[in-house]
Parts: sequence; structure tokens; C-alpha cells
Amino acid sequence: MNIDLRQMVIAIETAVSLVGMNDTNHGKRVGYIASQIGNQLGFSDEDIQFAFELGLLHDCGVSTEQMHSSLVNHFDWNDAHIHCRIGHQLLKSFEPLAKFSIPILHHHTHWIDLSNENISAHDALMANLIFISDRIDVLASSHYETDILLAKAQVVKAITDHSGTFFKPELVQAFESVECTEAFWIALEDRHITRYTWDMGKYSSDCPLSLEQIKHLSLIMAYIVDQKSPFTALHSVRVADVAKFIATTCGLSEAQCHKVEIAGLLHDLGKLHTPDDILEKAGPLNDTERSVMNQHSYETFEILRHIEGLGEVARWAAYHHEGLNGAGYPFHPKERDLSTEARIIAVADVFQALVQDRPYRKGMTLDEVLVILSKMVESGKLDNTIVTLVEGVAEQCFAIAQGSDPNENQAYLNLFSL
Ligand SMILES: [Fe+2]
Ligand SMILES: [Fe+2]
Ligand SMILES: [Fe+2]
Repeated sequence: MNIDLRQMVIAIETAVSLVGMNDTNHGKRVGYIASQIGNQLGFSDEDIQFAFELGLLHDCGVSTEQMHSSLVNHFDWNDAHIHCRIGHQLLKSFEPLAKFSIPILHHHTHWIDLSNENISAHDALMANLIFISDRIDVLASSHYETDILLAKAQVVKAITDHSGTFFKPELVQAFESVECTEAFWIALEDRHITRYTWDMGKYSSDCPLSLEQIKHLSLIMAYIVDQKSPFTALHSVRVADVAKFIATTCGLSEAQCHKVEIAGLLHDLGKLHTPDDILEKAGPLNDTERSVMNQHSYETFEILRHIEGLGEVARWAAYHHEGLNGAGYPFHPKERDLSTEARIIAVADVFQALVQDRPYRKGMTLDEVLVILSKMVESGKLDNTIVTLVEGVAEQCFAIAQGSDPNENQAYLNLFSL
């Protein structure tokens, strides 16, 4: 697999931005605003790229709508430090992105308090640059596409009122210089900011990732989505473990087994778009809720398909609710187009979900799981060969799905120490 770090960073932003539901692209806007202010201050190209990527990643500690809306609805939320700490812990474990972890930890720290922190001048500047860019976007977001050119004066006033306290005065002055042009504000509209980000994505970060690094980054992404609800905690991580075990038992090559594991980690990323109350509903979903829930595997595809080099892994991940009989969603591929790897992910997903407690039922015993799997084979949804193979190693699959079987992903999770 040959994957560039820049494209994975954009994918993380696309995933995390989904938490905002109708307010997506926040990370892209913060990256854009930060890079414009940095440019005004005469930043080096390297620092402009740093500010842009930091903007994309700054909210990687936000998984729930509840946290997102508190951050948007308060100019200075008391509990903002929670997502700063989560983002810091996630990125500091991953060497190529560790340089962003300190600025992320302090991206809601007031400028006057930053001098008390034992951090470098560069990290303090970058942290405060993201703080000001983030607050600009939050103040402006309800005005894009409508009256932003009229509303911009009140955004500027709210920012300048906090110069020297929340924000470094030089950053506020640079913002006042760049905000004079209408272009600065119009560029923040959804259509433009999306294209700007894809254009930036064409520039390689010249950081090709090793397989080990792709797995580590996928695990970070899995952690973000699994945190969305206590009921899905570690679901993606355990699906990846089960899928890799099935792939190995099937005799797939080592390279394919690694890719299956990565697809397992990434399969439910689109659930970041599912409202918290649907994921946590303590009963069956009604038709409307079900129709919203069933969009998540398409969202997974949309996040992953732009990552060059990830091709088939994106499809295996996105096909995890497809049935062999065409009765799944959302693509309805022909049976011949459902590869062994995609079929493995589908079985691992059902297996792990049944083992785990859900808001509307307790986790099932192994016997109950096996009954359901064989019914799903009979109805033509799951692959008979793979389910038969799973029945032969059922106890091991059950232990892995429960997480009682120690493995290398657990070692990574300990690295996050969250
Ligand atoms: Fe933010
Ligand atoms: Fe799913
Ligand atoms: Fe799943």
C-alpha cells in the first residue's frame, strides 16, 4: 500500500467534520483561516502547511454531537479542555503527527495563560493561531452562503474585543488585514472550501506511510468513531481483530490479512454522521431513524475513496452491510463483486455487534450468535463458506470479539492511555 500522509489527514478531517451534521467543513475552514493569517504574518511555506494541517486536525478529539454543539454555542466553554486532551493523546502516539499534539492541547487556552505553560514559542503561536481561527469560524458559520459580507463586522468586533487576553495581538492584527477582502469570507463557503482542500490534498506531504503507520492511523480513526457512544466502544477495533483472525484462518496472504484488518478498523467511520440519539436509542429504530442510520456505510466510502492507494480497502469497508442476495445497503453489488475480504468484514461486523451490549439488548452468548449467523446464511445475506469456517473456530472468534484475547491493537490502545 502506497499512501501519503496528507490524504489521510484530510480523511480524518472529513470524518470528524461529520459530527457537525449540517455544519461540516469546520476543520477545513480553520485550516484555511489559519494559513491565510500565517501568510499575512510572513510564515515560511513549511509553517503555512503546518497551520493548515493543524487546522484540519484540531478537533480530532470531538466524537459526539453534544460536545460539538457545546463548542459551537459557547464562545469560551469551560469543558473545552476535554477534547483538547483527547486530541493531544491520540496524536502524540503517532510519530508523523506528534508535532501537532501540543498545539492541539492548547487550542482553547487563552493567550494570557499560555505564557505559564512550559511550551515552545512556536507551539504557543500555533495553538493560539488555531484558537483565533476556530472562534472566527464559529462566529461566522451561520452566515455563510447568506449574509456573511454584512455579518463579518460583528465577527471582527467579537475577536478584536479579546485581543491581548484570549488572542495574541499580532494574530488579531493579521486577521484584520486579511479580513478586509470579500474574497477571504466568500472562500469559506462550502463549495469553495471543499475545492480548496482537495487542491491542497494534491500536494504530497512527501511522507509515504509504512503499513505499520497506516494501521496505527486507522486505529486512531477507529478510536474516534468508537468513542461516539459507550455502546460502540471498541466495536471497530474488535471487528478488525475478528476480521484479521478470520482472514488468517481462511489462508489469505499476510498482506491481504493486514488490509482486511485496516478495512475493519475503518468500516464504521461514517457513523460519525449518525446523530447520537439514534445510535443510543433504547429500542428498535423507526423508519426515519433507520433511513438515517443506513447512510453510514456510504459516508464511510465517501471519506475513504479519496485516499489514493486505499482503493479496494475502501470498498471492503463500505460493503459491510451488503448482502450476497442484494438485500443490504447502500450499493447492492452483484454477488460476484463481493470479494472474500468484503464478505469477511461483513461476518466479523455482525459477529462483534451481537457479542456487544446494545442500548436495546444485552450482548449475546456464543450459541445465540451462531444461531443468528446461520439464519443470515440461510436468508442469503452472509457467505456460507466463511460462516462455516467461523463455526470451526467459534470460541476463539468469541474471545477476540469480547476483547478477552490480548493482541497488538490492545497495545496500541494503551499508547493512547485514554
Ligand atoms: Fe474547532
Ligand atoms: Fe456499520
Ligand atoms: Fe460495524
